[in-house]
Amino acid sequence: MEDLRIGVIGLGLRTSLALAAHRPGRGAVVAALCDSDPAVLKRRAGTFEAELLTEDYRELLDRPDLDAVVVNTPDDTHERLAIDCLRAGKAVYLEKPMAITVEGCDAILRAARESGTRLYVGHNMRHMGVVRLMRDIIAKGVIGEPKTVWVRHFVSYGGDYYFKDWHADRTRTTGLLLQKAAHDLDVIHWLAGGYTTRVNALGDLMLYGDLPRREPGTPRPDGWLQEYEWPPTTRRNLHHVVDVEDVSVMNMRLDNGVIAAYQQCHFSPDYVRNYTVIGTEGRLENFGDGPGDTVKVWNTGPTGYRDDCDIAYKVPEASGSHGGADMEIVTEFLRFVREGGVTDTSPVAARMSVAAGYMATMSLRDGGMPYDVPALDADLAAYFDRGQTEHRG
Ligand SMILES: NC(=O)c1ccc[n+]([C@@H]2O[C@H](COP(=O)([O-])OP(=O)(O)OC[C@H]3O[C@@H](n4cnc5c(N)ncnc54)[C@H](O)[C@@H]3O)[C@@H](O)[C@H]2O)c1
Repeated sequence: MEDLRIGVIGLGLRTSLALAAHRPGRGAVVAALCDSDPAVLKRRAGTFEAELLTEDYRELLDRPDLDAVVVNTPDDTHERLAIDCLRAGKAVYLEKPMAITVEGCDAILRAARESGTRLYVGHNMRHMGVVRLMRDIIAKGVIGEPKTVWVRHFVSYGGDYYFKDWHADRTRTTGLLLQKAAHDLDVIHWLAGGYTTRVNALGDLMLYGDLPRREPGTPRPDGWLQEYEWPPTTRRNLHHVVDVEDVSVMNMRLDNGVIAAYQQCHFSPDYVRNYTVIGTEGRLENFGDGPGDTVKVWNTGPTGYRDDCDIAYKVPEASGSHGGADMEIVTEFLRFVREGGVTDTSPVAARMSVAAGYMATMSLRDGGMPYDVPALDADLAAYFDRGQTEHRG
């Protein structure tokens, strides 16, 4: 089996994904690199021994010898780049979030269908051990039928990662309740087996609005992500535009009646996601979200507070970025490029996570008013549910 030849657009932090995809002799090789910043392109040139280096992604699209393209650029560029790649007939791995508006997502989905080109959206959390474990516990019926899902997201490095570059600018992301939460909104939908139809949210820019910012056009300073200044109010060198919220809480009703809640804070001392799912016959909760951590289940009772549980499950050991999820998701993507079919990640689900986060952001900027989440065109959804073919079977 010949290696698939991959082009990568965007060589910033998420180059970790390109490294996971570069497996010469084992299925795929990164053969072309693109970054609009010539200094970044130069810096990454030696990493992959790629044959083509370019600042203009359209050069990749003209190359008949590339089988697929990985789009790792900032969120506001996803719509244009993904549509152009799909129309050029290149299978696309598009990083999450799919786009920064609902209309943007729908335009990408339509382009995939009209061109008949394979589209894959990089919701790598679906390949994280802790998420797959919680999903398996639910699927086995250990807590009965899930009825409510509550997620708390503590983002220790928020001030570094999200407030020192484009992430902090609404025009580039819409907001962090879409940008960051898209991961967990997708997982909530996956665990609960439904999509959000109605949301409301509250949020604010509490801490990072008044800290010193960099001049426009100045790069992220050396060591910007490694140095976790503490307490968070000592952080400096923020992006010149900071107008997204650093605290947000969101409520959701899903189309199957499940009620869910998601909470995000960017100045917590620790980084962890904490999920609780309560079903008709029990409750699960994760303690730590990495390999070797624990998901506890209580499914007898009732009792008072119990630190022990009825069943303790260990998150399987794994290595590599994002708890091993990046290797797994690239493996699924490569199979999809070769064979097509249904995958654990889903472009429709990716769109629904953006739609929920987008409408929640509208709600929190409108005093918490409830908003309906626009449904996806049923015919378009069916195309993707069939595994991106026009006819079943
Ligand atoms: N799935 C995950 O776990 C995960 C983790 C981190 C980031 N992401 C996503 O990956 C994407 C990239 O994030 P990042 O942190 O690497 O960003 P980054 O800012 O570190 O890097 C983005 C790179 O894209 C380049 N770029 C911008 N516009 C371009 C264009 N039109 N053509 C070519 N290159 C262009 C920039 O010069 C930069 O080098 C984002 O969508 C982000 O949300 C996903």
